[in-house]
Amino acid sequence: MHLKEKMTIVSQYKLASNIFEMKLTGKLVKKMQQAGQFLHIRVPRSDLLLRRPISLAEIDYKSGTCTIIYRVEGRGTKYFSKMKQGETLDILGPLGNGFDIRMIKQGETALIIGGGIGVPPLYELSKKLIAKGAKVIHLLGFATKDVVFYEEKFRVLGEVHISTDDGSYGVHGHAWNLLKKLEAENFVPDVVYACGANGMLKMVDEKFAAHPYAFISLESRMACGVGACYACVCHENGDKTGVKSRKVCDQGPVFKTGEVII
Ligand SMILES: Cc1cc2nc3c(=O)[nH]c(=O)nc-3n(C[C@H](O)[C@H](O)[C@H](O)COP(=O)(O)OP(=O)(O)OC[C@H]3O[C@@H](n4cnc5c(N)ncnc54)[C@H](O)[C@@H]3O)c2cc1C
Ligand code: FES
Repeated sequence: MHLKEKMTIVSQYKLASNIFEMKLTGKLVKKMQQAGQFLHIRVPRSDLLLRRPISLAEIDYKSGTCTIIYRVEGRGTKYFSKMKQGETLDILGPLGNGFDIRMIKQGETALIIGGGIGVPPLYELSKKLIAKGAKVIHLLGFATKDVVFYEEKFRVLGEVHISTDDGSYGVHGHAWNLLKKLEAENFVPDVVYACGANGMLKMVDEKFAAHPYAFISLESRMACGVGACYACVCHENGDKTGVKSRKVCDQGPVFKTGEVII
């Protein structure tokens, strides 16, 4: 059964250029388990029928709140950005299969690679890994200095390396360039997680294809969000028939490297 609730906005503010952090409260928080799961949010406008999928960036059971971080892209996210504390949003969720952290043991090292608006779910993931006693190294790539967010919050959890596409902050280039530097130091992670643009995910997918514990979180246009409409399919890797597919909404968004074609 899929759960739905009108959750209340506790706070909302601008984190960086065009990027907003919203905290929501409601009974659904208790059901939110895995980092990498997402909320399917109805835009309170009668002309926008499809819900918008946004990842959970943080779950706080103590205060009964969850946090989402989103970039204003089109009409839906623009509407969200104008909403105020005390207003409600119709939420379906938590949806999808998030990041598997069962295999990580105390003292092991997790490598987290995030790009742009793929960074938010990695914050809750990192917190969960730290709680298991893992060491976490974060490689975070952004377009420019003015869209960097949560750097200090990630630093509280572990080592952080930042890159920007235009070189305005951190290392010049993509998050992928940061990995090259670690590789030169013969670094081998026990587990790898990535979320971001397809180009970066493709590189992670190829690089860590044989790694037993490497995972990528995909984005796809979604309609129902619950596995019923097939709007979000991607193709299964190695399928010679070319017809085998996976639904990003309920079989993902997190997949093992090598599992699907990006
Ligand atoms: C599993 C998942 C998690 C996501 N998590 C985040 C997040 O944490 N923060 C964030 O800023 N964005 C996230 N996105 C992308 C976000 O869903 C889109 O940016 C958003 O739906 C755009 O809506 P809009 O009305 O502003 O834009 P419009 O372009 O007006 O949207 C039109 C339609 O296209 C869909 N759409 C547009 N862009 C995307 C996209 N990139 N992915 C999926 N559907 C899209 C919309 O849902 C809507 O149905 C996520 C997407 C997926 C699939
Ligand atoms: S969005 Fe409908 S099956 Fe995935």
